[in-house]
Amino acid sequence: MENRELPFVREMFDSIAPRYDLLNRLLSLHQDVVWRKKMVSAMVIPENGRVLDVACGTGDVAMEICRQKGPLVKVTGIDFSPGMLGLAQKKIRRQEAPAISLLAGNALALPFGEQTFHAVTIAFGIRNIQNKAGALKAFYQYLKPGGMVLVLELASPKQSCLRDAYMAYFQRVLPLVGRLFSKHSFAYSYLPDSVSRFPAPDVFMKIMAEAGFSRITCHRLTLGIANLFVGGRAAEK
Ligand SMILES: C[S@@+](CC[C@H](N)C(=O)[O-])C[C@H]1O[C@@H](n2cnc3c(N)ncnc32)[C@H](O)[C@@H]1O
Repeated sequence: MENRELPFVREMFDSIAPRYDLLNRLLSLHQDVVWRKKMVSAMVIPENGRVLDVACGTGDVAMEICRQKGPLVKVTGIDFSPGMLGLAQKKIRRQEAPAISLLAGNALALPFGEQTFHAVTIAFGIRNIQNKAGALKAFYQYLKPGGMVLVLELASPKQSCLRDAYMAYFQRVLPLVGRLFSKHSFAYSYLPDSVSRFPAPDVFMKIMAEAGFSRITCHRLTLGIANLFVGGRAAEK
């Protein structure tokens, strides 16, 4: 499966990696931490479940899964940016989270067998993948019957009275602060651009359904600044 933006996106995340966590906390006013916690608390897996975290970045989702789901759960994090993975590795070592293994790889060509995982997560990653339908179909294949996919993604709030203020912040202030701290000329302009290109929730839910998922829900977080999409792979009869 191709992803034409791939080298551009990988290089961008590689160069912002050192400041990525700091800027996440600062620019989201710590909401990114709250959203990941919510995503993981919506996950239902067995005590010794296996989870794949796609586009794992610096490892925050993988570590949250270990914190919430206990010592028997095994998490595999995959990302195509060596810079992000290097930071994830350091954090995992510091937190003594041996249940997490990290792999370098592309979300569109994952090296796993079918029906391997009880859950697949992707936080703030799917918006960077052009072929969303292809990625979701692959996630479905890697899930065991009865498993679930959880997709956390930023969104543009629709009917909130805070919409105008938020959009001014997101499209004007955030790129400036991001550029200042990350020293990257366009990564934090790419962020609002890529969010504005992301399909509307009902369209994305339809893409999930076409990939095979059922029981699809969308939870609006923080007045619709982020959405958590959850879908299930039907259990075998
Ligand atoms: C915005 S960061 C999110 C990181 C992490 N999930 C989090 O919660 O902070 C997006 C991540 O997706 C990774 N990524 C984007 N496209 C990818 C692809 N096609 N395959 C693997 N990783 C990808 C980037 O390298 C980056 O680490």
